[in-house]
Amino acid sequence: MEKKPTTAKEYFTSSPQERAFLVGTELRDSHPLLPVEDSLEELARLADTAGIDVVGQAIQRFNKPNSATYIGPGKVEEVKILVEEFEAGVIIFDDELSPRHQRELEAAFGENVKVLDRTALILDIFAQHAQTREGKLQVELAQLEYRLPRLTRMWTHLARQAGGRAGGATGGVGLRGPGETQLEVDRREINRRISQIKVELESVRAHRERHRSKRQQTELKVVAIVGYTNAGKSTLLNTLSGITPDSPSAVLAADQLFATLDPTTRRIVMPGGREVLFTDTVGFIQKLPAQIVAAFRATLEEIADADMLLHVVDMTHPNALEQIEAVEDTLAELEADHLPMVVALNKVDMLTDPEAIRQQLDLDVPSALVSAKSGRGVDELLILIEATMVGLLEPIEIHLPYQRGDLLSLLHERGQVDQEKHTESGIHVFGRVPARMVPIFEPYRAT
Ligand code: GTP
Repeated sequence: MEKKPTTAKEYFTSSPQERAFLVGTELRDSHPLLPVEDSLEELARLADTAGIDVVGQAIQRFNKPNSATYIGPGKVEEVKILVEEFEAGVIIFDDELSPRHQRELEAAFGENVKVLDRTALILDIFAQHAQTREGKLQVELAQLEYRLPRLTRMWTHLARQAGGRAGGATGGVGLRGPGETQLEVDRREINRRISQIKVELESVRAHRERHRSKRQQTELKVVAIVGYTNAGKSTLLNTLSGITPDSPSAVLAADQLFATLDPTTRRIVMPGGREVLFTDTVGFIQKLPAQIVAAFRATLEEIADADMLLHVVDMTHPNALEQIEAVEDTLAELEADHLPMVVALNKVDMLTDPEAIRQQLDLDVPSALVSAKSGRGVDELLILIEATMVGLLEPIEIHLPYQRGDLLSLLHERGQVDQEKHTESGIHVFGRVPARMVPIFEPYRAT
């Protein structure tokens, strides 16, 4: 008797190197964020990140998807021939396929070819990159919920392959088995695992909540770093915290999509002396799968809880504008679009005329031209963030007796001192503090 798979990793096994053929579609008269060619280029980068070689691609423009096979029968035949010619073992669709489309396509392409979609690919990359317990649980949950309605014969096949290679690239999607007799049992097992993960996540989150409220008690302002995947968020956080890439505490920064998933928070001293927390979390992408948003909701909600946002943009990317739009859309979905924002236009080291691109992007929030890699422009960026933060502080006028020097230090550290006058009875201060700290200074209010 072979052992049954017990983790998503085991369900999603595959050979490390695959040859993939990509299929993109465009609905006529629709207005997608990216033209299909650019979206396919992004899909190829996702495949590359997952360790899959892309050998060819096909595009179909249609008025509506085919109800059975998503692409039309003629296109299916064309792809079939190309797939054979290029000896591809996997076909990746750029759109999320419904369970029916997936089944029909698997039947049409035959036993030897796997059919994947963008969502399965992104989930697989997430599975490879999640580091923390919460991250891993969230990805496993998303994968299982994605798989549940798509269970077919391949499930029993995977069951027989139990204990297979961990962290595979294509998640074994599309593998076929000999029969479907196990299906109901398997569904029950997945459902049981889903409930188990939810319970585990509850307890992990309760723990994180306690940490978060402790952090809030420190009254430090929180800046959430957001941006499209590969924009340079992790590199920027490392540079801000004075960490070199080879340092053990460096956040992984790699030329891969979704290199970092798990939230990292660093305490940074701003030019004015105030300490601020910067947190970096999962990158965004157009067509971000709903399962990911749902599974990462708790992590993503931390963004909405921040005091302000730092939006990192790869200004060298030909689709920088569309990427900005995709980030803004996701922020709106997370109800974080009301927060004050500063934009870091990153990777200026690769451009001869960054100012011209800034003009083209025509942003309506303050921006700084930076190179997270070399550190250029980072001081100006911090000044901009600080200025935005000062706008978030409440003005106060207080008269502190000399023995309350501790409160004056606190004001310097967490707020801002605009004017300090030494008098016989104490220090008269005009300054600004975070709203939450006003009560501390209340007894010494001068007006
Ligand atoms: P995700 O984890 O996908 O969300 O990416 P990220 O936004 O955290 O990007 P990351 O910091 O991993 O950087 C992505 C790639 O861009 C890496 O290869 C970095 O070395 C590169 N990069 C980041 N900042 C700069 C920069 O200022 N200049 C140049 N030339 N490359 C940069």
